[in-house]
Amino acid sequence: MRRAVCPGSFDPMTNGHLDIIGRAAALFDEVYVAVLVNEAKQALFGADERITMLQQATATMGHVRVASFGGLLVDFCTERSVDTIVKGVRDSGELGYELQMAQMNRALSGVETVLLPTAPQWSFVSSSLVKEVARLGGDVEQLVPPYVLDRLRQRSPDRPDESI
Ligand code: PNS
Repeated sequence: MRRAVCPGSFDPMTNGHLDIIGRAAALFDEVYVAVLVNEAKQALFGADERITMLQQATATMGHVRVASFGGLLVDFCTERSVDTIVKGVRDSGELGYELQMAQMNRALSGVETVLLPTAPQWSFVSSSLVKEVARLGGDVEQLVPPYVLDRLRQRSPDRPDESI
């Protein structure tokens, strides 16, 4: 059985993430979506919420499971007999760092990395930008699933200052 992992912070997940997870699911027998829980990093959504949103997004994908991890990604892979990491790459700027991580992870454990080019319609989408736009009252409806949109709206009371 070929197992892959799609790792990330997913704070929150976007349609770009969902596209990569779906494409990984088409390539592998079993796919873990691994949510990095890093207590030192300030996140908008708690780990439980991020996991819930990913579970909702992948509910119809029978061989996709959502899990959390801390520490090294390769340790997660070893514990779960995962031999491939799948990641999306949006542009050439990201590629250099992704190559470095892929080489490090392979050197550490033999785990291979498959880099999938992000679908063009999501190549400008990042969790950070989605959060910023939502916080300032912008429309991100086309960029995230509906249940993520609802949570973003609940967390985004700010509106642009029009009093200037
Ligand atoms: O969504 P992100 O924040 O870009 O995801 C980054 C992530 C979680 C894939 C990366 O930071 C990671 O793998 N962290 C786990 C720690 C680790 O294994 N570090 C060594 C990488 S070579």
